[in-house]
Amino acid sequence: MVSIIPRVFRESLPGLLHLGSGFSRQDVLRTAAPALQRAYHEVTGDELCPNMVRGIDHLRDPRLNKGLAFTLAERQRLGIHGLMPPRFKTQEEQLELCKVSVERYQEDLNKYLYLIELQDRNERLFFRLLSENVEQMMPIVYTPTVGLACQKFGLIYRRARGLFVTINDAGHVYNVIKNWPESDVRAIVVTDGERILGLGDLGACGMGIPVGKLALYTALAGIKPHQCLPITIDVGTNNQQLLDDHLYIGLRHKRVTGERYDALIDEFMHAVVRRYGQNVLIQFEDFGNHNAFRFLDKYRNKYCTFNDDIQGTASVAVAGLLASRRLTNTRLSDNTILFLGAGEAAIGIADLCVQAMQTEGTTLQEARDKIWMVDIDGLLAKNRPEGKLDGHKAYYAKDHAATKSLAAVVKEIKPSILIGASAAGGAFTPEILKDMASFNERPVIFALSNPTSKAECTAEQAYTNTEGRCIFASGSPFPPVQLDGKIYYPGQGNNAYIFPGIALGVIVTGIHHIEEQLFLIAAQTVADHVTDADLANGRLYPPLGCIRECSVNIATRIAEYAYKKGTASVYPEPEDKRAVVLSAMYNHNYEDALPDVYPWPELPASKSVTIDKPTKARSIEL
Ligand code: NAI
Repeated sequence: MVSIIPRVFRESLPGLLHLGSGFSRQDVLRTAAPALQRAYHEVTGDELCPNMVRGIDHLRDPRLNKGLAFTLAERQRLGIHGLMPPRFKTQEEQLELCKVSVERYQEDLNKYLYLIELQDRNERLFFRLLSENVEQMMPIVYTPTVGLACQKFGLIYRRARGLFVTINDAGHVYNVIKNWPESDVRAIVVTDGERILGLGDLGACGMGIPVGKLALYTALAGIKPHQCLPITIDVGTNNQQLLDDHLYIGLRHKRVTGERYDALIDEFMHAVVRRYGQNVLIQFEDFGNHNAFRFLDKYRNKYCTFNDDIQGTASVAVAGLLASRRLTNTRLSDNTILFLGAGEAAIGIADLCVQAMQTEGTTLQEARDKIWMVDIDGLLAKNRPEGKLDGHKAYYAKDHAATKSLAAVVKEIKPSILIGASAAGGAFTPEILKDMASFNERPVIFALSNPTSKAECTAEQAYTNTEGRCIFASGSPFPPVQLDGKIYYPGQGNNAYIFPGIALGVIVTGIHHIEEQLFLIAAQTVADHVTDADLANGRLYPPLGCIRECSVNIATRIAEYAYKKGTASVYPEPEDKRAVVLSAMYNHNYEDALPDVYPWPELPASKSVTIDKPTKARSIEL
């Protein structure tokens, strides 16, 4: 046990340093407690200070509740016998009922509400349902239904889930974070609600996103629910409809921006590290474009953080491109890539493509030269009259005459890969698609914009205008397409292939900073899961049902990489990385609710002394 002390000290140090002067013993204990709990748990497999649980808590606490799956012995010994009907069910029987119950609802929002209510009632059942039925349940718990839930958040709000930090809490953010009842948080998903999916500024109603993302952390990568913390930072909203809505649950004023906003985010970052240690994972989600890149650049080397809209999207798109190489028989560096859109998603993908090309031996500049981009102001050309070429956009600007026509750029540069991340529905016209088919035997066409109405083309348009030769993937799901007697299955580049596995790998190894290389590892792992049969049917991604397996493999490869590179901080280095990853994962099957009982050796017989009393003799045990 002594060996854990330096580690506890190291992990608690940032928090301790923040205490400044005038702190109490209580403050020190609170600061060091999470690291101590964690280390103790890792060494002994036990909780340091388990809360005392009463029998009735087994019915009331969703973490303990098993519903009708409590056995007779459990019911009797826990003192809950008679508090439920005399029927005993297996978890499998309960799952069947859950599936029927979800199906009974006609509207997706009602299905969502049923699942949230299940999560509030019986956590293991909820996560098992999600994990084992990813294809059916993920669209309800996450996109697209979660978007609807965010839009109606004020109406459907029942019970607090997640933490709200507001601009009014500036200067006291640590006090708010401290109120979160869990001491062993390892993963935070945070949004400020400014750009929720394709729906724009939803202010505090954006909370549905971190809640949904973290549900996927557990369902798809087995990260323990109590280690996940959803946070919404409420600095107001510029959405006038919400400001006028009497049901709106957030601060009712325009967004606070500039120095006050930046200072709040800074304070937030300090506060979570102070409470949960320097390797708590902080995933930024659905921040506005202008802030997303800034914060990623600002925090990526100081905190354990990543941005899923930028890096997760990039990774899943590159996974599709890596898989497509097996059909085109090219290296990524052999391609000319044209993007429509130069925002969070497109730039993220472009940056990761550059990194992937570099691993093939291409130089940085050569790689950037192979990538062309067209945004709302036209081609990223160095001397274009309008449209700033700031930040990462500048890397891809070309010495070329300014043009606004995507079709003209396609004709001129003859790309082999065309990627849409512009939210400009229908921008890949039949003419553009036909041109792509005329230059390439197997043109790669990704229409990544969401929702479906914003996709640059549909799967059907892509296949029909390329005589079925294109390799297609989209952001939103499209049904299979039948063409000339053949069925094509469009791939869906869902970030859920990537972020849960990355998070699992980072948590298991205690990596402090999430380097870009991890997203490349994740992309390659997902591509490796695509079988030849998948490719033959046009599938660039493995079936959604494989995501858990993908997550385990991503985490294992990250662990192998991190120990080799010396960036892991959990020591000693485990020999079998996969076994460690698996052992860290949440068990969604029920466990015995009764404590272990065990016999003691026979106790020595006790001597008895007889005391004479006037009326009767009493025996006293000594
Ligand atoms: P963003 O707002 O950061 O960027 C949008 C970009 O598209 C900007 O560069 C803008 O100039 C350009 N644009 C807009 N209208 C255009 C037009 N008519 N012609 C040419 N360019 C135009 O948005 P972000 O986050 O990059 O998302 C873009 C799209 O990608 C969204 O629909 C989003 O849902 C989708 N997306 C898909 C993901 C996935 O498939 N896994 C993940 C993240 C985003």
